[in-house]
Amino acid sequence: MPPPYRITLIPGDGIGPEVTQAAVRVLEATGLKFEWESFRAGAEAYEKYGEYIPKELIESIERTRVALKGPISTPIGGGFSSINVALRRKFELYANFRPIKNLPHIPTRYPDVDLVIVRENTESLYSGLEHEVVPGVVESLKIITEKASTRIARFAFEYARKNHRRKVHAIHKANIMKLSDGLFLRCSRNIAKDYPEITYGEHIVDNTCMQLVMNPYQYDVLVMENLYGDIISDLCAAFVGGLGLVPSANLGESCAIFEAVHGSAPDIAGKNIANPTAVLRCALLMLRHLGEDEAALKIRNGLEKTYRTREKLTRDVGGQAGTSEFADSVIEAMEVPATATQSD
Ligand code: NAI
Repeated sequence: MPPPYRITLIPGDGIGPEVTQAAVRVLEATGLKFEWESFRAGAEAYEKYGEYIPKELIESIERTRVALKGPISTPIGGGFSSINVALRRKFELYANFRPIKNLPHIPTRYPDVDLVIVRENTESLYSGLEHEVVPGVVESLKIITEKASTRIARFAFEYARKNHRRKVHAIHKANIMKLSDGLFLRCSRNIAKDYPEITYGEHIVDNTCMQLVMNPYQYDVLVMENLYGDIISDLCAAFVGGLGLVPSANLGESCAIFEAVHGSAPDIAGKNIANPTAVLRCALLMLRHLGEDEAALKIRNGLEKTYRTREKLTRDVGGQAGTSEFADSVIEAMEVPATATQSD
């Protein structure tokens, strides 16, 4: 019997504990064995340990190199800085990979959307470098470096090549931010030269929003700096049924943290009504990262069957089932797959 996978689990807050619990149950139902090292972070951790990110959590990720994470709330306009951003920076998780793909039978404006957003994860306005210059005037620094821009462009093109994607678009605002976004674009153009089989395009970010809503099929892989990636991901989530459905992987050289695109959704927390699909798709990405393609396919099959039968869907996608019932349905529907594909 192979040894269990040791995974760091961060349940998060708001709907985090509900959706991550659903993912843990589904992962364990694949037949693989897991040992979970579970830690709180954020406001709850501060109350308990006097630290927003307990050092035991950092040590756990250093040890396991793989974490499954629920959302963590960040206070607006004051209070502590984002734990999510801090973890990405601490572990140099420079690439945020966000596949946007329809599941069957969710009514959406566009069927069969299949896009990938590659978001630079360590800099831009997320640098957190803000200060009050004089009362009534604040300055927020947008950091763009050649190193990080080249690294993320390389990631996007490598992903495109390995997955037979045809196009990569760099998204920017270099008409206004000539130096910072200009550097990002120059790095993307340089990397594009190494991939002649992939069509390279550039779109200004505001135009991209309009183009996406008019015709999402014109895009394939989109690479962009941190803030644009944050905003465009939520827009693209609407193509596939909303935030309850879109996963992400924060990837670096030494470790990976898998978390949904959505936040802690305080408006629906604690009611067992959140859709756990996004975090289940994170679990699926995590299994692929671990090389467990067959188990990943079981989860995909379980999800697709649950959506096809439509009996146990959560409210955000037109059903009445709770988070835990949805997970039960996925577990019931999981079958041993015939062939492995990389389709989501
Ligand atoms: P949100 O993503 O939490 O919620 C936006 C809307 O989508 C809400 O109406 C919510 O009910 C709905 N929604 C989100 N996830 C859902 C799910 N699984 N099932 C059904 N409906 C779902 O965004 P919001 O309200 O802007 O942020 C709330 C908190 O989450 C903030 O403190 C924010 O900082 C934090 N956040 C954390 C993230 C992370 O941990 N990676 C990412 C985004 C936000």
